[in-house]
Amino acid sequence: MPVERLHLATPRHIAIIMDGNGRWAQQRLLPRAVGHNAGVKAVRKIVEFCAADPHIEVLSLFAFSSENWRRPEAEVTLLMRLFLTTLQNEIEKLHKNNIRLRFIGDCSAFDETLQKKMREGETKTKNNTALTLIIAVNYGGRWDLTQACQQISRRVAAGELTSHAINENVLNQHLSLATLPEPDLFIRTGGEQRVSNFMLWQLAYTELYFTPILWPDFTEIALQEAITSFQGRQRRFGHTGDQIAAFANS
Ligand code: IPE
Ligand code: IPE
Ligand code: MG
Repeated sequence: MPVERLHLATPRHIAIIMDGNGRWAQQRLLPRAVGHNAGVKAVRKIVEFCAADPHIEVLSLFAFSSENWRRPEAEVTLLMRLFLTTLQNEIEKLHKNNIRLRFIGDCSAFDETLQKKMREGETKTKNNTALTLIIAVNYGGRWDLTQACQQISRRVAAGELTSHAINENVLNQHLSLATLPEPDLFIRTGGEQRVSNFMLWQLAYTELYFTPILWPDFTEIALQEAITSFQGRQRRFGHTGDQIAAFANS
């Protein structure tokens, strides 16, 4: 880890598990679908907040995990439909706001219309610079590591790479985030304190922040609180606290 990263106070990359939509609706005696719709509104506010902050380069949002297919079929169908309509409604706005959209996850599981829209969003926004917005859909950290191993083994079989040349850097380059910075700050809303198969490799030195706030209630103020908590932490990356203090003063 380069020394200059050690005292960077603002997170360059924020990764969020947006959890609690279902409970938010159930507390109001409403169907879970209403919670998912309310969740989209919260996404809009958080994306705008991050795009307006020049220090935040990447925002990653976990929208649908590789395990969420286990939900009742009606909820999965609803989530897919919501995903498509949200994309249709938002791509133009993201583009106007200079936001680059990227998806990570196994997109091959989605129907062709959705895949086309996802590619269209990525292509249209690919040169935008205010923020990289990563949406993780049908994503799992284990899937990501597995697909990276498959790519690497194909390269070894083709004679492009020797097994001795495989190191952490090579593995990292074959993961979905590849050259993008690792998350500095991880936030999970909804009160659960687990990572649920999100970015397993990249979270190695990420600062973790858990809040009981349900995702539809998560506001810019709540995000600012998470950032403030992050800024009060000392990231050591294996060094001692005294070493970090000395780096900061040098
Ligand atoms: C997160 O909210 C959204 C998705 C996983 C798609 P949940 O739907 O998991 O909400 P809870 O955890 O049941 O409240
Ligand atoms: C994690 O939330 C995935 C997303 C927010 C997309 P879940 O609600 O699926 O996680 P678990 O099942 O409670 O661990
Ligand atoms: Mg949940």
